[in-house]
Amino acid sequence: MAKDNIDPGRRKALTTGTAVVGGVGAAVAIWPFLSSMNPSASALAAGAPVEVDISKMEPGQQIQEIWRRKPVWIIRRTPEMVETLPKLTEKLRDPDSLEESQQPAFAQNEIRSIKDEYLVLIGICTHLGCSPEFKPVPGEVGATWLGGFYCACHGSRFDLAGRVYKNVPANKNLEVPPYHFISENRILIGMTEDEAKA
Ligand code: FES
Repeated sequence: MAKDNIDPGRRKALTTGTAVVGGVGAAVAIWPFLSSMNPSASALAAGAPVEVDISKMEPGQQIQEIWRRKPVWIIRRTPEMVETLPKLTEKLRDPDSLEESQQPAFAQNEIRSIKDEYLVLIGICTHLGCSPEFKPVPGEVGATWLGGFYCACHGSRFDLAGRVYKNVPANKNLEVPPYHFISENRILIGMTEDEAKA
């Protein structure tokens, strides 16, 4: 597990920001705080897994949860988003997550996820711990941008699998937490399927 490198001020900002309830709709940047089915605050602080209902997610939408006091993003990728991934290999520092990238074994691949459609990431920049922004629209961060995550602190860029570009300050892909699907529309963050069976 990655070292928690968020400074206290930034951690407070992240936690406060996600405590606001948002509506669910088609917009890509809506981050509802999903807490109704989760354990108590003390259990969460101790690292208890967090169950998330994704049944209402729209294609292209990002939602955010908190696990071990870190922001965890779930992005429902469209087929068009997934199709961008093989096009970027030459521009990425570690496209196959073979170096120091942190993810469960199931995510050590191009899509960095269990299912093409759903991407789950720790929302903390691997440079100095800022929270990158979801920028899914092609051209949004430069003419060649195909969608991904942009960290405004120092300009690091990540694709729609959380893979870091070459020649930016961050040198690792965004971390993928342990998780698995406990049903078609429910994800348990904090435990892989193998860990759950053990
Ligand atoms: S913290 Fe993200 S680019 Fe520096």
